[in-house]
Amino acid sequence: MRIDKYLHDQQLGTRSQIHELIKQRRVTLNEQPVKSFKQGVDPLQDRVIVDGQVLGHQTEFYYLMNKPMGVITATTDLSQTTVMDLLSKDDFRSDLFPVGRLDKDTTGALLITNDGQLAHQLVSPKTHVAKTYEAHVTGTLSNDQIQVLQDGIELKNGDHVKADSASIVGQSGHETNVKLQLHQGKYHQIKRMFGALGQRVVQLHRAEFAGLGVTDLSDGNYRALTDKEIELLKNKTSAD
Ligand code: URA
Repeated sequence: MRIDKYLHDQQLGTRSQIHELIKQRRVTLNEQPVKSFKQGVDPLQDRVIVDGQVLGHQTEFYYLMNKPMGVITATTDLSQTTVMDLLSKDDFRSDLFPVGRLDKDTTGALLITNDGQLAHQLVSPKTHVAKTYEAHVTGTLSNDQIQVLQDGIELKNGDHVKADSASIVGQSGHETNVKLQLHQGKYHQIKRMFGALGQRVVQLHRAEFAGLGVTDLSDGNYRALTDKEIELLKNKTSAD
């Protein structure tokens, strides 16, 4: 692997910042200053030091994306753009995958990782983490309907679905905006819940996943999680 790619994986900055670090002779490889950003490195064998700090070998990667409309939540597809296609060449790895699923027309918080154990923990029915959605639905909603979302609904296929909380945050013309928080994560859950109330979701945005919000990310953009965020995620349980 090239040293600049390795340093980028270690989250030491953009490619140009890393090239600058190398130019300034702040990186050593097996005690020798790195002279070219194209130099090869074996992360398992070589000793890389930046500004006196020995680097470890990062094997797990975590990104939070603000998924845009029109992109599918999948690792590959022959004809459609997937969320993985939005990763830069530097960040892409073939073992990364999205945690859970957002519909093609749903936007918002989506975690992408290669940490299978954490992904499993985050979406397993036992430890489902909290998710916050903003749904624009057709027509007006009564307080009774909002209460039904929180009391729980038995869907036609027998699924029992329920929001932890739901509230109307706006009403305009023929649309109502509802904010919901839930721990469950069943297939098309929000659309099916409103469908059961006779309403249609016209726009759906996941504002937060496991406490991670995407207000700082524009559509289609993503960022690496901080060490603290990763640690918090690993400690999440259904009690969050
Ligand atoms: N519920 C839905 O109906 N769709 C999503 O994308 C996410 C939750």
